[in-house]
Amino acid sequence: MTTTQVNNPGPVARMLTELLGAHDLPAEPPRDPMPLLLEWWEDARARGGYADFNAMTLATATPDGFPSARIVLCKAIETTPPALVFYTNYESRKGRELDANPRAAALFHWPHAKRQARVEGAVRRVSDAESDAYFRTRPLLSRIGACVSRQSEPLESSQALVAAAMRRARTAMLEGDIPRPAHWGGFRVHIESVELWSAREGRLHDRVRWTRLSDDETPTWRAVHLSA
Ligand SMILES: Cc1cc2nc3c(=O)[nH]c(=O)nc-3n(C[C@H](O)[C@H](O)[C@H](O)COP(=O)(O)O)c2cc1C
Repeated sequence: MTTTQVNNPGPVARMLTELLGAHDLPAEPPRDPMPLLLEWWEDARARGGYADFNAMTLATATPDGFPSARIVLCKAIETTPPALVFYTNYESRKGRELDANPRAAALFHWPHAKRQARVEGAVRRVSDAESDAYFRTRPLLSRIGACVSRQSEPLESSQALVAAAMRRARTAMLEGDIPRPAHWGGFRVHIESVELWSAREGRLHDRVRWTRLSDDETPTWRAVHLSA
């Protein structure tokens, strides 16, 4: 629609009427956002168009409020209790920030469906047993990389890193195993709020935020429609 058409409101009125019925999010928000978040995530996985459907921007902050953000892969979305799980180096910048200030915000963008999902909550390390179990499922090279990389630290040279990986691979062959290094493992974001956003024409996007009201396994939530 061009600016010259503003004197004829007919087409705009028609488009706005269509918009009223065009919901990706249910018109009445569900009481619990987790099944819908999981449905969006499964939809992104099923499209198969991009390998990193589970990539999310993870924001952390120092105790005095300096934020930082990076992509990590979300390895699980859990519904009872509501949580996200990702794995990283505990001594990395994010790991150190989370130890000092255990709160995070995470953001998924699923462009194929014009959707984004925001999650916020308190963060705790997963158990050693859980990290061990996940570590064992990782490809050999990723396990070696996790052992030798001092993530977020200055690197002498990439040759030095590859040489360290070679040495680690040789020891692994002799020992027949690569145990998880203590500096690597999972974090669980205990979800306190979820916001689902779905694009609509004319920037009149659909947006609902759920805030968790209780701390039990299947919490109650308050849902609020937000202006886009
Ligand atoms: C698609 C993608 C997936 C990534 N997945 C992870 C991940 O699961 N865990 C991780 O520690 N870093 C992952 N990274 C690397 C991080 O973005 C980041 O560079 C690294 O964790 C260091 O961040 P930090 O210095 O802020 O701690 C990924 C990067 C990309 C682009």
